[in-house]
Amino acid sequence: METKLNQYLAEINDTIAHIHYPAAPDGLYEPVRYTLSLGGKRIRPLLTLMGCELFGKHRSEAIAPATAIEIFHNFTLLHDDVMDKAELRRGKPTVHCVWNENTAILSGDVMQIMAYKELSKTPQPYLKEVLNLFSKMAAEICEGQQYDMEFENKTEVSTNDYIMMIRLKTAVLLGCALKIGATIADAPQQDAELLYRFGEDLGLAFQLKDDYLDVYGDSRVFGKKIGGDILNNKKTFMLISALNNADDTTRSELNRWIEKKSFNPEEKISAITRIYNQLGIDRICENEMEKRYRNALKSLQKIQVEEDRKEMLYYLAEQMMKRTV
Ligand code: IPE
Ligand code: IPE
Ligand code: MG
Ligand code: MG
Ligand code: MG
Repeated sequence: METKLNQYLAEINDTIAHIHYPAAPDGLYEPVRYTLSLGGKRIRPLLTLMGCELFGKHRSEAIAPATAIEIFHNFTLLHDDVMDKAELRRGKPTVHCVWNENTAILSGDVMQIMAYKELSKTPQPYLKEVLNLFSKMAAEICEGQQYDMEFENKTEVSTNDYIMMIRLKTAVLLGCALKIGATIADAPQQDAELLYRFGEDLGLAFQLKDDYLDVYGDSRVFGKKIGGDILNNKKTFMLISALNNADDTTRSELNRWIEKKSFNPEEKISAITRIYNQLGIDRICENEMEKRYRNALKSLQKIQVEEDRKEMLYYLAEQMMKRTV
């Protein structure tokens, strides 16, 4: 299974390596090359290829939209790192740190255009539907990112609000990646919808895990700076659960840290992590993640194709849950 996955990965990376860049200006395209060459897990294009093969078409039919989705994902990371003031990604300094914020904005913009250019290579007669799915997803990500920022300064954020927000900023991209693959393979509407739901629930579990690793990960492996979400007052499932489960004294301490304008970053990260540890927030987060993952698997089980065709998707989903990166 791993060999097969590496073969798919190689095909994706090869397509990305052959993207044509205009000769100039280098200041615009160099950050794009930098970002796309740093790899990453390439989960979303893998899902598109697998979504296509699940319904019996060869994955080469879906390589263009798969590539478009990966370029688009990388674009969101450029802007996200500006918004989150993140200095490290995939173990390397972020674009706005190597160059500057304006570069991250504009190189991100051109990546969106590059994504649509790639998307337009989708074979007919699927182009129109694929474009619609893609555009809907792209707008939803913006909506999710907006909520994510607004929640930083909002005190009353519920776990339902959180799930709504991560569904938009993260989960719909996984759902869309799969459904585009299914669409190109002429999947029955009901199965395409189930596959979308599989991706959505997997995406919720995936973002829960991302938030978990932002606290409990190993920076050298995870490739991002640990504690970034804590410093930004991100209303993660962990912070919301901590606020809900804490006694009055601990809740006040949490709120004091959230409201503090000037502090030592390392001190804030360790104080809040200590509270998470006391309250067993790691376990609570893992339980929620597992619940979403189980929901995802239920949708995949319902899809009307032979079980052995689903093996790669089961395998990839399992890898995503086990990940430390
Ligand atoms: C990062 O996505 C953004 C989130 C939605 C959490 P990935 O963890 O898939 O990032 P790469 O592409 O593998 O670096
Ligand atoms: C990712 O959320 C959502 C998007 C990039 C759209 P995060 O802000 O948690 O992603 P990382 O942790 O920076 O990769
Ligand atoms: Mg971020
Ligand atoms: Mg973010
Ligand atoms: Mg994160």
